[in-house]
Amino acid sequence: MDEVTNLNHRFAINGHLSFEVGENGLLMANIQNAYAQAEIMLQGAHILTYQPVDDAPLIWLSPKAKYLPGKAVRGGVPICWPWFGNYESGNPETDKNYPAHGIARTGMWEVINSEMLPNGATRITFALLMDEAAARLWPHPSALHYIVTVGRDLILELVTHNTGSSPFTISEALHTYFVIGDIDATQVSGLEGCAYIDKVDGFKRKTEPEKVTVTSEIDRVYLNTTEDCIIEDHKLHRNILVAKTGSDTTVVWNPWAEKAAQMADMGEGSYRGMLCVESANAAENAVTVAPGTHHSMCVVYAVQRG
Ligand code: BG6
Repeated sequence: MDEVTNLNHRFAINGHLSFEVGENGLLMANIQNAYAQAEIMLQGAHILTYQPVDDAPLIWLSPKAKYLPGKAVRGGVPICWPWFGNYESGNPETDKNYPAHGIARTGMWEVINSEMLPNGATRITFALLMDEAAARLWPHPSALHYIVTVGRDLILELVTHNTGSSPFTISEALHTYFVIGDIDATQVSGLEGCAYIDKVDGFKRKTEPEKVTVTSEIDRVYLNTTEDCIIEDHKLHRNILVAKTGSDTTVVWNPWAEKAAQMADMGEGSYRGMLCVESANAAENAVTVAPGTHHSMCVVYAVQRG
């Protein structure tokens, strides 16, 4: 039985969840139910789309996105794990061989469960394949599970299990690209008064005085914040709630015109219609997971109107 037939045999839910072979042979899970539709690529367990019924898409996917084995996709919900950004071992200069944002977003994942919840939402659970290539970069006995619930809201839970006998430390992020009407008509609330690392100003430490507005490249790592955020979209006339648990860091990122123009997979002008608000644990908020325990980071994305 080929892989896609096997997946459909074991995990498809009639009329709600099916699997197909997508571009360049990459396997896809397609979900549709009374609340929303979503597409998830098994490489990276990468959510590419999520659109509530009767609303605009919530998740932004670049018009120039490329779908290639072993390569990260621009847009959707990339999973950064077990490190966020560049590998942090105290010597970043020698660690350039480690892929940015870790091994999970380009790694192969397997489906380990699927179910329809009593309320009609669809849940699918993935596990990262800890193959030899992964073990070379992350030699700690561990399991990473990702539980995706597609319903009226999109609920994502990333669970790190330490299956070994020594503690290890991870940084992580759900690097979600949200659709916005226009960057000039968008604010993010929930980060007022927060200390952050400004990655576009030499990693200086600063404090956010007010709601976040974006008028140039932004790459900020807000620390020690468990607050939910709201993306206030004054053009699409909707708010997006970004609620989280198990996350002490929030990252806000938009490459703006010049950097976007240098990226082959962004598309001209498209930076105006996206904003990353990432629930994370990074820098001093990295998490140490004791042997035999697990750490869970969970987000809920919900559209709120008028
Ligand atoms: C953000 C980082 O989370 O992701 C940025 O803070 C980075 O520094 C951005 O540029 C995009 O990363 P990538 O690897 O997908 O181009």
